[in-house]
Amino acid sequence: MPKLNTALITGSSEGIGRSFAEVYAKNGHDLVLVARNAAKLEEFAQQLTEKYAVKVTVLAADLIPVDAPQQLFAALTEQAIQIDILVNNAGMMQVEKLSESDPHTLNNLIQLNVQSLVNMTQAFVQPMIERGQGKIVNVGSIASFMPTPNFAAYGASKAFVLSFSEGIAEELRGTGVSVTCVCPGMTETKMLSHADGMEKFIPKFLKADPMELASQAYKASKKGEVVFLDKIANKLLVQWASHYPRWIVRGVNGLFSRFK
Ligand SMILES: NC(=O)c1ccc[n+]([C@@H]2O[C@H](COP(=O)([O-])OP(=O)(O)OC[C@H]3O[C@@H](n4cnc5c(N)ncnc54)[C@H](OP(=O)(O)O)[C@@H]3O)[C@@H](O)[C@H]2O)c1
Repeated sequence: MPKLNTALITGSSEGIGRSFAEVYAKNGHDLVLVARNAAKLEEFAQQLTEKYAVKVTVLAADLIPVDAPQQLFAALTEQAIQIDILVNNAGMMQVEKLSESDPHTLNNLIQLNVQSLVNMTQAFVQPMIERGQGKIVNVGSIASFMPTPNFAAYGASKAFVLSFSEGIAEELRGTGVSVTCVCPGMTETKMLSHADGMEKFIPKFLKADPMELASQAYKASKKGEVVFLDKIANKLLVQWASHYPRWIVRGVNGLFSRFK
């Protein structure tokens, strides 16, 4: 059994979160799976238990309500389940101009991608600090590094995730708790296929396989890397965005958004 035994993974019914769950199970970790679709999680939990002989607990929850993180924490405390690794992966994207966006959907995006991630981290990190060990994995994006016209709120939410993760990584230095911000590029999941036709403009070689991404991210978290980018193309894009003046990066992204 690994020293850090149990991993809680949000958004683990689909896509990258599901792949994270598979990778952690493969490495012998017990799991707590969180997403809204209880039936999908239960079925997946059974598959993981049979395949990897790990203990899998399902907690179906919508993470948008403000009190969801505290309720999850309380439910796990009641079941005497200690979380050693927290993977804040659940997220949503809305590809639309701000002027055309539904305000309710926008609020949900900010609530899920930003506030619930902060509240989950705050709820679960304290016991990790007290035990002197633990890992937090926050899922950002390459959008964390640049503005994203036509889905500006999504990009801004992911910039928040990166900044927050780096900030707490330093705060937690010396406590035994590490923080890794995983910043994927285009990854073949439902989110990408629902992204308003964006997928068809992206060449195959730029798209990551979620299992491959999750395996590499698992290793990065194990090594205590603070910021993790997967593909060479993503690393080059981030290098470009970090070294050119903001007005150039903003302008080029604006041009691409109009081209679509
Ligand atoms: N795919 C990409 O190209 C890409 C690129 C960069 C970053 N990312 C980031 O990677 C993460 C995972 O994305 P993905 O592509 O795997 O997305 P996905 O395929 O759409 O899966 C999203 C997961 O989050 C769960 N979820 C959604 N809303 C939720 C809510 N309100 N409460 C609880 N769980 C919720 C979904 O399950 P239920 O519907 O059952 O709740 C599902 O398990 C996100 O943070 C995303 O921003 C993705």
